[in-house]
Amino acid sequence: MVSAIMQSVSNDKMAIALAKEGGVSFIYGSQSVEDEAAMVARVKAYKAGFVVSDSNLQPTDTLADVLNLYEEKGHNAMAVTEDGTANGKLLGIVTGRDYRVSRMSFDIPVSQFMTPLEKLITAPETTTLKEANDIIWEHKLNSLPIVDKNGCLMYFVFRKDYTEHKENPNEILDADKRYIVGAGINTLDYEQRVPTLVEAGADVLCIDSSEGYSCWQKKTLDFIRKKYGDSVKVGAGNVVDRDGFMFLAEAGADFIKVGIGGGSICITRETKGIGRGQATALIEVAAARDEYFEKTGIYVPICSDGGIVHDYHMTLALAMGADFMMLGRYFARFDESPTTKLNINGTYVKEYWGEGSNRARNWQRYDLGGKSKLSFEEGVDSYVTYAGPLKDNVAKSLYKVKSTMCNCGVTNIPDLQKNAKLTVVSSTSIVEGGYHDVMLKSTVQNNR
Ligand code: IMP
Repeated sequence: MVSAIMQSVSNDKMAIALAKEGGVSFIYGSQSVEDEAAMVARVKAYKAGFVVSDSNLQPTDTLADVLNLYEEKGHNAMAVTEDGTANGKLLGIVTGRDYRVSRMSFDIPVSQFMTPLEKLITAPETTTLKEANDIIWEHKLNSLPIVDKNGCLMYFVFRKDYTEHKENPNEILDADKRYIVGAGINTLDYEQRVPTLVEAGADVLCIDSSEGYSCWQKKTLDFIRKKYGDSVKVGAGNVVDRDGFMFLAEAGADFIKVGIGGGSICITRETKGIGRGQATALIEVAAARDEYFEKTGIYVPICSDGGIVHDYHMTLALAMGADFMMLGRYFARFDESPTTKLNINGTYVKEYWGEGSNRARNWQRYDLGGKSKLSFEEGVDSYVTYAGPLKDNVAKSLYKVKSTMCNCGVTNIPDLQKNAKLTVVSSTSIVEGGYHDVMLKSTVQNNR
């Protein structure tokens, strides 16, 4: 699963949460090159289990400041650094064990009751999470400050995060154990954007466009191949037929996205009359991929992008030939998406808007060589029902996918693509497939 290249879906927070579950986010490109690169860099800098201290004090701060900070952040462990910053020279720490509110004056300075550095156990910056956890265990600590060679605080490792790695057996890491992250690019400013994103550590790029079968995509791919050879992986799209696939495969795309007009927030088909039913498009492009592989020996994976609503749609997309899928609406519903959670008439929702909506104004995605503006909307601004944390939802969806695969007698995606039997269903069959002719006891249904 990869998350859509959209302002309302893929920022660094989403990327970290998804990488922990084995998926990849493509950070949205409809922002300045610097801002996008900064998001990529934050994902790459994230060290599971290593937390940059967010509650920090100076030695001259008082007990009243400690209590205020606790009120604001809710964290028990606070760093005392020379300048009161997260990466200042470490002088001590303050935890709930260092003060008694009922017996102490509120203006007593932190330096008088903190646990000073000489009494602390710290570890150097080269410490691995495993080593840090061993130290925590051995010395019965709740938190372990990690300091650099100048004695400046870098991170805390907390006892409660001990299981972080064990809880994420599917996490997707690069050779340096950093999370994998993708980034969206466009066919206009790639000469600046691509090098900056590569420099920031992006593992994979994807040209974000509603129309992939274009000379602009070829130009962008040519630029990347000329500058980086095969070392930078880049996807292209979107296409909906054999011709489009062959064009991008020959242009050197590392993967190709399929889907025009099927996204939940998309009104491209209504406004322009282009696009294709997702199933029809996928089946034809998957056949083209196999044909291309037969001919050249090069397998170019395809990604089904947009339109996935029910979890079984994921299995269907894979069975129709997709190698992986990109989802927008699905991820927008989770805690980790970048948008605001609101309560509307008693229901929690999150905002979700299309890249072609007036809100996002991602004209580069829809550019046809005219003026630098979005001339008309191809997407809407909407709400989606809030669904909680990503981890729980992805786990549930994947259970369902695996369960269906089991029904099909397969244990991996290539076998599902080969062996699943697809059947066309009538609208009557769809009605029959849901509950029918019964009165529900509860209106709260969560079977989807
Ligand atoms: P969803 O998973 O059905 O919500 O579809 C997400 C996909 O819709 C994205 O990955 C894009 O390919 C596409 N998309 C994003 N914004 C727009 C838009 O404004 N108009 C049309 N398609 C869009």
